Amino acid sequence: MPETSNVDYSTKIPNNVGLLDDERVLRALEQWHPGYIDWWMSMGPEGFQGSDVYLRTAVSIDPKGWAKFDYVKMPDYRWGILLAPRLQDRQVNFGAHKGDKAWQEVPGEYRAMLRRLIVIQGDTEPASVEQQRHLGKTAPSLYDMRNLFQVNVEEGRHLWAMVYLLHKYFGKDGREEAEGLLQRRSGDVDKPRMLGAFNEATPDWLSFFMFTFFTDRDGKMQLESLAQSGFDPLSRTCRFMLTEEAHHMFVGETGVGRAIERTCQAMKEAGIEDANDIAAVRKLGVIDLPTMQKKANLHFSLSLDLFGSEVSTNAANYYTAGVKGRFQETRIEDDHILTAATYPVSKLIDGRITLVDEPALTAINMRLRDDYVNDCCKGVERWNKVIAKSGINFRLALPHVAFNRDIGEFAGIHASPTGEVLSDAAWERQKPHWLPSKADGDFIAGLMAPCWERGKFASWIAPPRIGIDNKPGDFEYVKVDRA
Ligand SMILES: [Fe+2]
Ligand SMILES: [Fe+2]
Repeated sequence: MPETSNVDYSTKIPNNVGLLDDERVLRALEQWHPGYIDWWMSMGPEGFQGSDVYLRTAVSIDPKGWAKFDYVKMPDYRWGILLAPRLQDRQVNFGAHKGDKAWQEVPGEYRAMLRRLIVIQGDTEPASVEQQRHLGKTAPSLYDMRNLFQVNVEEGRHLWAMVYLLHKYFGKDGREEAEGLLQRRSGDVDKPRMLGAFNEATPDWLSFFMFTFFTDRDGKMQLESLAQSGFDPLSRTCRFMLTEEAHHMFVGETGVGRAIERTCQAMKEAGIEDANDIAAVRKLGVIDLPTMQKKANLHFSLSLDLFGSEVSTNAANYYTAGVKGRFQETRIEDDHILTAATYPVSKLIDGRITLVDEPALTAINMRLRDDYVNDCCKGVERWNKVIAKSGINFRLALPHVAFNRDIGEFAGIHASPTGEVLSDAAWERQKPHWLPSKADGDFIAGLMAPCWERGKFASWIAPPRIGIDNKPGDFEYVKVDRA
């Protein structure tokens, strides 16, 4: 079957890349498949592998109507290879090869670079499934449980997407890397996942929602810049992944939004005006807003580290090579070569955080991070609207980019959420006010009682405005296997 916008489901591996005619890759993927299923069974959602889950599966890569909803047991999900349509006459749109025809094969000189980018992206996908594998048990509703599993199976598919590229374009070392993606484990001492945020625990549902809001959004930014790649198959696969990624961020944004809504509602009902009266709010069985701020501080700062160093020759090399671009590269009005341009970078100069002009080429990470921060800001403002609507006087805010960092310019200092540089002692003293403490974690954990009755929601979260696939409020999104 030639490349098409419809997905061929006649093969074991659904695809729109003509896999049946590509015997070598088909065989390689069929060999990889059992290891993937083993990984999914041992590291995927714990306790629900036998449950029917109302999931969407992509049946076409057309923007309209690509999804089909049905009950599926997760191990039977049709993971597959889906690339966005090939654009006529697509070019390399930036860097030294700007104006050349986009590459359908890996250019030899950029092979190592591309492989590394694909492996790093690929490594994050199974990592998040591993981080979230215990959450089903404490799901605050069947609706939320279904959304968790949808995110999980799609992260599984994103792993397939990267593994396809490795098998198809990188020969023996590609096969080895594809194996490695199944060997590493989130948080493992000996074989951890490659990036910090993907080795952190996701202990509760507020963490999950914050993770999908902040960390999946880093994923979006990385996919956006890889979607610009001159290596066309990478661009096409990332473009399709982005359509799935949008749902993950929806889950995060509305999840936190619904927790906020429920807190404000409970405060109103109890006549509590002061959002900082944490003890009184917690007695209502909801999560106080200051704790939500602390969680946001944590997940935002961990996610910022994923952008790497503000000034980076690697990022410059990726750009000049034409393998990884900027966010919305083709819409930016400049020469797309960047040999003369500058970009303001926040740096630590004489103990103060200052903006300094750096060559735009080496500031690519900084720029992508700025775009990310802007995107996060809009979501936080939507949360603030929920609070404002309830009449409660409280605002959530993103902390300063120097706050709680482990990578880049600010790794060696302590800064407050407003960007004030602090002594070690001052940081230690204040930290419990800014980052979730053990007691905060224990309180949230105490709220995480499962709520699996149709149409019911746990005490700390409001129901959604509309159901998935327009289903009514009491729809049985997951038929929990109680055996
Ligand atoms: Fe993903
Ligand atoms: Fe995601």
